[in-house]
Amino acid sequence: MRADEVKAVFDQQAAGYDTQWARMSPIRNALYFLLESLFVDLPSTAKVLSVGVGTGTELAHLARRFPEWRFTAVDPSGPMLEVCRRRAAEEGFAARCTFHEGYLDSLPGVEQHDAATCFLVSQFILDRAERAAFFRSIATRLVPGGMLTSSDLATEPGTRYETLLRAWMNMMSAGGVSPEMLDRLRKAYSTDVAVISPTEVESIIAAGGFETPTQFFQTGLIRAWCARTPG
Ligand SMILES: C[S@@+](CC[C@H](N)C(=O)[O-])C[C@H]1O[C@@H](n2cnc3c(N)ncnc32)[C@H](O)[C@@H]1O
Repeated sequence: MRADEVKAVFDQQAAGYDTQWARMSPIRNALYFLLESLFVDLPSTAKVLSVGVGTGTELAHLARRFPEWRFTAVDPSGPMLEVCRRRAAEEGFAARCTFHEGYLDSLPGVEQHDAATCFLVSQFILDRAERAAFFRSIATRLVPGGMLTSSDLATEPGTRYETLLRAWMNMMSAGGVSPEMLDRLRKAYSTDVAVISPTEVESIIAAGGFETPTQFFQTGLIRAWCARTPG
């Protein structure tokens, strides 16, 4: 999918996104729980960049846990970002956020962040070089030694993919995702989402200017890595 098509998909999904995925919260919460332990050594006044922030669930989690941190929330989808903005206002942390509707390359200023989150975003960039350039654009917004955390659907192809995909579909079905949506997702995974091997994802993150990535999380098809910019 081209970037504008990805944006259009999320524009359409924004209003129902949180309801649609509500029953997947055990996976999200496990990821966020580990995220906290990775970020716990950041300065008490850390600045965190959240790329592809969507409706802001990871942002809200960090804002609750670390009350002095400030955030830059970036997303090309206005409707997704609007849900995030509303959440921040309702939960009382909007004053600690800068919202940017657009891609990272149009983010004004050159402020350096202590860390970044990028959850379920880079998988939509099918071209390897573009995906590495995307990670590089995050690296340039981080302090030396700053930490990226990134999650994506990823697995080895073949039997492993088939096994995990079947379980993933069953899990989403049990979580209330409609059969039509499951069908759309299954097709999207083979055409519009780069579900590639973990080793390849790691080499793309490294090609984007990060030191050796460490996988810190896997639940079904979702894996997450942390990696630092050179110190
Ligand atoms: C699957 S959602 C994930 C949202 C959130 N991070 C989460 O985990 O719930 C992907 C989000 O990334 C945004 N996005 C897609 N391509 C992007 C890009 N190149 N740069 C920044 N955000 C992007 C979409 O608009 C969407 O809001």
